[in-house]
Amino acid sequence: MSDPDELLRIEGIRKTFPGVVALDGVDFDLRRGEVHVLLGENGAGKSTLIKMLSGAYRPDAGRILVGGEEVRINGAQDSERLGIATIYQEFNLVPDLTVAENIFLGRQPRRLGMIDRRKMEADAAGLLERVGVRVSPRARVRELGIARLQMVEIAKALSLDARVLIMDEPTAVLTSEEVERLFAIVRSLREDGVGVVFITHHLDEIAALGDRVTVIRDGRSVGQVPAATPEEELVRLMVGRSIEQQYPRERADAGAALLTVEGLTRDGVFHDVSFEVRAGEVVGVAGLVGAGRTEVVRAVFGADPYDKGTVRVSGAEVRRHDVNAAMHAGIGLVPEDRKGQGLVLDASVEENLGLVTLRAATHGGLVDRRGQRAAAARVAERLGVRMAGLGQQVRTLSGGNQQKVVIGKWLLADTKVLILDEPTRGIDVGAKVEIYQLVNELTAAGAAVLMISSDLPEVLGMSDRVLVMAQGRIAGELSAAEATQDSVMALAVSTPTTSVNGTEATRGH
Ligand SMILES: Nc1ncnc2c1ncn2[C@@H]1O[C@H](COP(=O)(O)OP(=O)(O)OP(=O)(O)O)[C@@H](O)[C@H]1O
Ligand SMILES: [Mg+2]
Repeated sequence: MSDPDELLRIEGIRKTFPGVVALDGVDFDLRRGEVHVLLGENGAGKSTLIKMLSGAYRPDAGRILVGGEEVRINGAQDSERLGIATIYQEFNLVPDLTVAENIFLGRQPRRLGMIDRRKMEADAAGLLERVGVRVSPRARVRELGIARLQMVEIAKALSLDARVLIMDEPTAVLTSEEVERLFAIVRSLREDGVGVVFITHHLDEIAALGDRVTVIRDGRSVGQVPAATPEEELVRLMVGRSIEQQYPRERADAGAALLTVEGLTRDGVFHDVSFEVRAGEVVGVAGLVGAGRTEVVRAVFGADPYDKGTVRVSGAEVRRHDVNAAMHAGIGLVPEDRKGQGLVLDASVEENLGLVTLRAATHGGLVDRRGQRAAAARVAERLGVRMAGLGQQVRTLSGGNQQKVVIGKWLLADTKVLILDEPTRGIDVGAKVEIYQLVNELTAAGAAVLMISSDLPEVLGMSDRVLVMAQGRIAGELSAAEATQDSVMALAVSTPTTSVNGTEATRGH
């Protein structure tokens, strides 16, 4: 007898890849009108599990039941036919097509045999309005930032009118305002009886949105608990131990200025930005999305040009718009868009970890390959990169493990000034603490760290000083003692003279 409210049931699913058992017996079920959270460490198997439902992978063993009937899902079309829509962790949009074309890819409305562009664009505009994102249906996807890409993915999923909606870390790249909007959409879908599978590393979102939680550890489902379960208990289930100290910053006395930025200006983007970061310091950069934080650090790293101002490392001026000069001077950048800028996806973990050191080594002569392999192994072990071996292709690592490789790459290089742009996005709670500990080690060894983060507790917990940017300018600087959620937000929404940018809210977890 099947239960009419049961949308989906997974029994004993197993999936292996060469050298990896990704799933080793997972049970899961989804009911009408519920948000069921999948929780687990980086590499636990969450994305692999949902890929069985979207038809991207087929299970080696186990059963999938939809509406009480066992089904085989052999591809995206099977999945769609069964009423399942999936928003992947990695974006799945075609960069050269427009927003509207992406939303209706393969399902474009037709009139007299031709694609009805007007209808397609009008329908797309309606969906975009519903998710509350201001973007033209005619914009090319290539031109959008990651937050907007995510909102387009959501609009696309809504257009399918699915009974089961799967979202793999949809909030990782969204601002607090966008998260609220997304939650409102999910709640209204739940009212309509849709079942939602929701993956997140932000524990506070679980109680806010979820009904039930299934915890996956090492490819096995280890427990099912109500979403109201206290966070400490969720963490214990997830990582198998409790985490004593979430932000283990050890403050030391700061030394000489390593990075000095003066009057940095890029017309229309940021203005008269001046600050310094001293040896041993972690300087946090807070601000609303659109305040110009990423733009400033990209200019400091030489990835983008600027019109006025100077960047110095230990007093020596760094040539503008020259990444090699910046790296040579000892500046490293962990970018916010890891897939686009941080990794060579088809190369191995070891090759990716060695990218920076290799490039640096070609200046100074011989490459010590064996030393490099040992160092790569050490960093991978330290960050707990879950992989079959150093030879595994980075493309096949889980999302969070890819992020660890980007960070590990710069930890390996002898970086004097490390710039981190949203370093823990998509990273599980246990691995976050490891990254913070590595930041401590770097600063204890005399490096300077500049950390952009939209996760306010992280900024407050890890910074010795906090710079707050608003509308392309530094709106203020706060000492660790002065920096609180309120003082940072007050500066972030201030108007430091002329505005160059629109604003959206920073997320405050
Ligand atoms: N195509 C593949 N080839 C080889 N290994 C893979 C492949 N896809 C996933 N894996 C491995 O399966 C394991 C589970 O990965 P999965 O992406 O499901 O983790 P996750 O729980 O989603 O983690 P995250 O929180 O980091 O996104 C990882 O060890 C990963 O390296
Ligand atoms: Mg994943």
